[in-house]
Amino acid sequence: MKSSRILIVDDEDPVRSQLVRWLKEKKYLTEEASTGQEALEMVRDKNIAVMLLDLRLPDMNGLDVLRRLRQENSDVCVIFLTAFGTTHDAVMAIKLGAFDFLDKSSNMINELIPRIEKAREQFDLISRARQQQEEEKDRYRLENIIGKSRSMREIFDLIRDVAPSNASVLIQGESGTGKELVAHAIHNMSERADKPFIIANCAAMAEGVLESELFGHERGAFTGALRQKKGKCELADSGTLFIDEVGEIYPSLQVKLLRFLQDQKFERVGGESTLEVDARIIAATNKNLQVAIGEKKFREDLFFRLNVFPIFLPPLRERREDIPLLVDHFRQRYAAEMKKNIADISSSAMTLLKNYDYPGNVRELENIIERAVIIQKGEIIEADTLQTGLLNKPVPHGNAYAHLPFKDAKEKFEKEYIQKQLERTDGKILPASKNAGLDRKNFKLKLKKYGMINHNEHA
Ligand SMILES: Nc1ncnc2c1ncn2[C@@H]1O[C@H](COP(=O)(O)OP(=O)(O)OP(=O)(O)O)[C@@H](O)[C@H]1O
Ligand SMILES: [Mg+2]
Repeated sequence: MKSSRILIVDDEDPVRSQLVRWLKEKKYLTEEASTGQEALEMVRDKNIAVMLLDLRLPDMNGLDVLRRLRQENSDVCVIFLTAFGTTHDAVMAIKLGAFDFLDKSSNMINELIPRIEKAREQFDLISRARQQQEEEKDRYRLENIIGKSRSMREIFDLIRDVAPSNASVLIQGESGTGKELVAHAIHNMSERADKPFIIANCAAMAEGVLESELFGHERGAFTGALRQKKGKCELADSGTLFIDEVGEIYPSLQVKLLRFLQDQKFERVGGESTLEVDARIIAATNKNLQVAIGEKKFREDLFFRLNVFPIFLPPLRERREDIPLLVDHFRQRYAAEMKKNIADISSSAMTLLKNYDYPGNVRELENIIERAVIIQKGEIIEADTLQTGLLNKPVPHGNAYAHLPFKDAKEKFEKEYIQKQLERTDGKILPASKNAGLDRKNFKLKLKKYGMINHNEHA
């Protein structure tokens, strides 16, 4: 017996039973349906390789059945059963991807088996290719993280290794490289997956606010503290605490955080009693903490506590092999989200994307694709669509500052870059940060760093 099945769809009983009889003699497994609806259900439930499909069915046209199969991404090979006078339908059927035709005539028996065999071969080929595609996809993703470069695959391994343990993880990398995504993946792959994942962001917050954000406060602890509030450390009990932008934390708070990391004990602001929780710590920063330590802005002992298991996410421009994969991933995601049929990207558009430097890393690439999907007319993303956007500005290379030490060159570039972005949006922070592919908080931090904003100004 052959393992995949042949489905015969015809509302005329004699035709159907004749076909079934012939096929059974040749040891085929067969199924029967007399309506289009029945046929579609059978394809969903059973392993059907080939469908012999009558063009005229009581409930729907055979072409509609084929259309539905394609919409549902079925690999079934369809052979139409045609009677005289159906040439027009036959042309349409080819367009829709029918595999073959069979004339319902006395000669049918001779034609039947060789054509079915060809169709079966085709089915095997397609389903094997599809399976390979699926396997490939799995190989290049971990949770929601996509990547095929060697550095990303090494990171996948690190995540798999560290997730089940309780070890503290420090994720370092430029803005938009996927630090938060990695933190989520570690939590989701740990035994704490069904417990809370709490994010505490240390950026752009006044010291007092941040302290109570992290550790909570008692009622009356300060003016405006009308009721008791639990901090992120407390909320993360039994789960994971993700301390984002840990490099921005104030030196005075670093001491309190260090103590929390050492024995998971703390007091709420204005509180007497010591609380204890069980939280797994993941921290992230886009700052080079070693430099911050050198400048005495970050405590070395805190660094060592956090850095039990370091993960460094390389910038996108250092792993360009990942770009096409990410482009496809975001194209499919945003096309589905916007219910648009964007089937592909032109090769010149892809070349542009592969050569760009992405100061905002994956987030910037994601924004570029989202925007392209929105404005693209037609099914293919063209280079023009991208060129009118972010990619048309020339990418500055470091040469102009080659006489400077790297640190100074980087600062000079960053400052000019931020200034340019602000000019382009008439000083509006939110759109400028979007264009830069940075989140607003980070963008504002940079503004502060270069004295382009005063501390209480709002976007
Ligand atoms: N490898 C990846 N695969 C798929 N999506 C990614 C990948 N890396 C980043 N992204 C996407 O890019 C965006 C930015 O990622 P994320 O917020 O994790 O970066 P980040 O390093 O935390 O940035 P920041 O330092 O600015 O906070 C998100 O939408 C995320 O889903
Ligand atoms: Mg982040």
